Amino acid sequence: MKSITVTEAGPADSMKVVELPSSSPKAHEVVIGQTYAGVNYGDAIRRKRGLFKLNEHGYFMPWFEGVGKIISTGEAVVDFQTGDRVSYLSEWGWGYSQEICIDEKLIYKVPDNIPDKVAAVMTCVWATAGHLVSLSNIDKDSRVLIHGATGGVGLMLVQLCNLIGAKVIAVVGTEEKKEFLKRYWVTDAIIRSDGDISPQIKSVIGGESVDVIFDCVWQAVLDTNLNCIRKGWTILYYGSTSGHSTFPGMQILMNSLKLQGFNIFNAIHDAPNWKAELQKLLTLISDNKLEIYINEIFTMQEAHKAHELLEERNSIGKLLIDLS
Ligand SMILES: NC(=O)c1ccc[n+]([C@@H]2O[C@H](COP(=O)([O-])OP(=O)(O)OC[C@H]3O[C@@H](n4cnc5c(N)ncnc54)[C@H](OP(=O)(O)O)[C@@H]3O)[C@@H](O)[C@H]2O)c1
Repeated sequence: MKSITVTEAGPADSMKVVELPSSSPKAHEVVIGQTYAGVNYGDAIRRKRGLFKLNEHGYFMPWFEGVGKIISTGEAVVDFQTGDRVSYLSEWGWGYSQEICIDEKLIYKVPDNIPDKVAAVMTCVWATAGHLVSLSNIDKDSRVLIHGATGGVGLMLVQLCNLIGAKVIAVVGTEEKKEFLKRYWVTDAIIRSDGDISPQIKSVIGGESVDVIFDCVWQAVLDTNLNCIRKGWTILYYGSTSGHSTFPGMQILMNSLKLQGFNIFNAIHDAPNWKAELQKLLTLISDNKLEIYINEIFTMQEAHKAHELLEERNSIGKLLIDLS
């Protein structure tokens, strides 16, 4: 089977397609023959910074999510069988591979009406958006600020907040992304520039502050966040695309703010809750209440292009790798 691998930290084109032996599942594992893998910003970061462990073949490919059919099961697996279509979430291992071997606790049976291309990106990025919105406790009167609003997580956050009826203020990097968001009824999108953009944010809500901030950027938007969040309200911090060295302890104290971190790889340890969040999303997708925006699908040989698009911040929505 073919696998896209790296052996050391490097640029996107250091990813190579290699032929590897198939794995045999241990007692509680299954082997999945994958059709698609979702590409995440985190994949690119791990590849670039070398945040990985090599496997017994001396390779690693950072990856989190994908979909396919089970082709073999370990002897203790009872809830899944060969032929089941499943998606999965995992922190370490063989993602952009035609086959992956994974613990049964990390897989989720995909309903028949959900196509592979959708199921491939549910478990990490969209589940993260679902958990974040649940944690936020927002309602129709909330004013929410979403950084990176056209990214994989960001675009799902926009849609989920829209469904609740909250007022969405989006921050994006380009005019094209701002224009794109009109498709999701976001009329208040602000193009991020260096420095504090809280005056622009406040000006679109009559000088008021926002109640909740969904932040995947951190360092570069810290001043903005602290200057436009309402006293006593919440910053949901789930990524640090611009770095994460500063901790604003005094401002958090002085303004009675709540800083809530979130990591999907902790959430998955509470499997019933993780699966309940997935089920909520699946119901919304089945009811056509969420748009599935897949920007581009790449072959295994083209995987580097997907990473480059994310690193250059030129992607909107989700990217996939076709592994079939
Ligand atoms: N905590 C968790 O459990 C969890 C789960 C999934 C993902 N994440 C994190 O969530 C973030 C988004 O992931 P994703 O897969 O949705 O990525 P993505 O599609 O690449 O979106 C990232 C967005 O961040 C924005 N951004 C702002 N400043 C940036 C910078 N300095 N460098 C790069 N991008 C910047 C970009 O928007 P503009 O260019 O428009 O500003 C881009 O749209 C990542 O940090 C990822 O690690 C966390």
